[in-house]
Amino acid sequence: MIKETDFLVIGSGLAGLSFALKVADQGKVIIISKTSIDETNTRYAQGGIAAVMYDPDNFHKHIQDTLICGDGFCNREVVEMVVKEAPEQIQQLIDWGVRFDKNETGKYDMGREGGHSEYRVLHHKDNTGQEIENALVKRVREHKNIEIYEYHFAVEVITQHHLGKLVKRGYPDIECYGAYVLDLNTDQVHTFLSKVTLMATGGTGNIYDTTTNPQIATGDGIAMVYRAKGTIENLEFIQFHPTSFYNPGERPSFLITEALRGFGAILKTVDGKEFMQKYDTRGCLAPRDIVARAIDHELKIRGDDFVYLDATHLNSEKLKEHFPNIYEKCLKHGTDITKDPIPVVPAAHYMCGGIKVDMNGHSSIHNLYAAGEVSSTGLHGANRLASNSLLEAIVYADKAAKHALLKFTSIKINKSVPEWDAGGTSYPEEMVMITQNYKEMQQIMSNYVGIVRSNLRLERARKRLEIIFTETEELYKKSILSQKLCELRNLIKVGYLIIKMAQNLHESRGLHYTLDYPKKGSVSEF
Ligand code: FAD
Ligand code: SIN
Repeated sequence: MIKETDFLVIGSGLAGLSFALKVADQGKVIIISKTSIDETNTRYAQGGIAAVMYDPDNFHKHIQDTLICGDGFCNREVVEMVVKEAPEQIQQLIDWGVRFDKNETGKYDMGREGGHSEYRVLHHKDNTGQEIENALVKRVREHKNIEIYEYHFAVEVITQHHLGKLVKRGYPDIECYGAYVLDLNTDQVHTFLSKVTLMATGGTGNIYDTTTNPQIATGDGIAMVYRAKGTIENLEFIQFHPTSFYNPGERPSFLITEALRGFGAILKTVDGKEFMQKYDTRGCLAPRDIVARAIDHELKIRGDDFVYLDATHLNSEKLKEHFPNIYEKCLKHGTDITKDPIPVVPAAHYMCGGIKVDMNGHSSIHNLYAAGEVSSTGLHGANRLASNSLLEAIVYADKAAKHALLKFTSIKINKSVPEWDAGGTSYPEEMVMITQNYKEMQQIMSNYVGIVRSNLRLERARKRLEIIFTETEELYKKSILSQKLCELRNLIKVGYLIIKMAQNLHESRGLHYTLDYPKKGSVSEF
């Protein structure tokens, strides 16, 4: 099947859906999503979305907090643009039907998270992402120009390479004509041709064996664009969230929002001792890289399996009112958060780097944009400030939409793209080849490329990953496509890039912490 559209949107989280809504009045839009439309990282967001709303907060403070957190690697111009555009984009969400909590005075109730010097996080209870996703899904389903393909998996971005031309990394004239997409109901690969394509495939959390990300987060967009010879950057900066609920075997790990620490909850070792002040004067509300490393350090020196997040001293009614889902979830597992401390561990949470884009969200490939977690805009630098990612997704979807709308009428659909060639392939004889390599990849990445790294660990990871890379490529060439195989292939590619980028950074910076270049005053010295 060949489908043609003005705008092809790959991914149905906040980035993809908001872009779709912004262009749909002027052109035909197709959204593809590899599972059900709402199964996204967006849906799991808890804490909220950062924006300056009231005194004493101001743009300068939000800009400074973002820059400090990014540890010298942010693009200041981008930070200023995103922070200043936040209020307008928040209003857009509200106009689309998103409800943020208000306090008794009728003002929005602003939460606080690590690295923020003010109360600045708009939220809806402790399930902000679900509120956002539901409102936007309703809108896109109602729009007559938007067609939605659920259970459709994007396999490759189409460029001149598929027309038999030589395409090399760094070529300035690579063009995107759409994507090859696997229909998971029929196992057929379809050709989606578009004037403009937006990559909005989200994160990569499943590269690790403990993650807060749902199963969809497998780095597909980064791998596709890398294979299409686009520019990828900053992948070494993987954010581990300090506090996921300790429940071995549960996947994804259930997040205990940082907003709970903003509300007054305190990190303690299992014998009840506070420890964060040893590591940072900001204590439990230090930026995430510092808190996650401090917990990792405590677990290693003490030999414990988890630390506690203690909220038992807080008003129990208010606690239940603000964090109803966390309360229910913990209770189901025997922890009453009003009476018992919550066992927590760090978990892979967010990819700061990705497809390099300019301030219009445009990638290095013509007519290909990227927005949301899959992109690297320069906002986060070496460490993302909490609740800045939903903000980045909506601001950059807006930027990309405005830019694409100016030019899409002058772009022609490329009709000479051939259909997918599945010749010479068959179903894999044993799925265990895929599942075992998946597990090995997660172990390699978790043990050698986690919160604390070293040259030795990175090199060992690279060598191990190379073996399963070769095996997986051989299997891929002779196999009929399946989602699991494509995801494994993509994750291995992203894992390899993470390691290479980490090996090329000869210092500890933000989320990339290496024992070979320890920073003075960093937690490893305790
Ligand atoms: P996503 O929302 O992840 O959407 C990705 C989409 O791409 C999905 O529809 C998926 O199916 C689709 N897709 C992926 N690959 C393919 C493919 N090959 N083919 C077709 N479709 C594909 N950020 C904040 O700012 N505040 C928070 O409070 C917050 N809390 C969080 C809590 C949790 C538990 C998690 C996991 C993340 C949290 N984040 C938070 C981060 C934030 O939610 C994400 O960065 C953001 O939602 C990403 O949005 P997105 O649109 O880029 O991607
Ligand atoms: C959280 O609620 O702690 C997650 C916020 C984020 O990832 O920005």
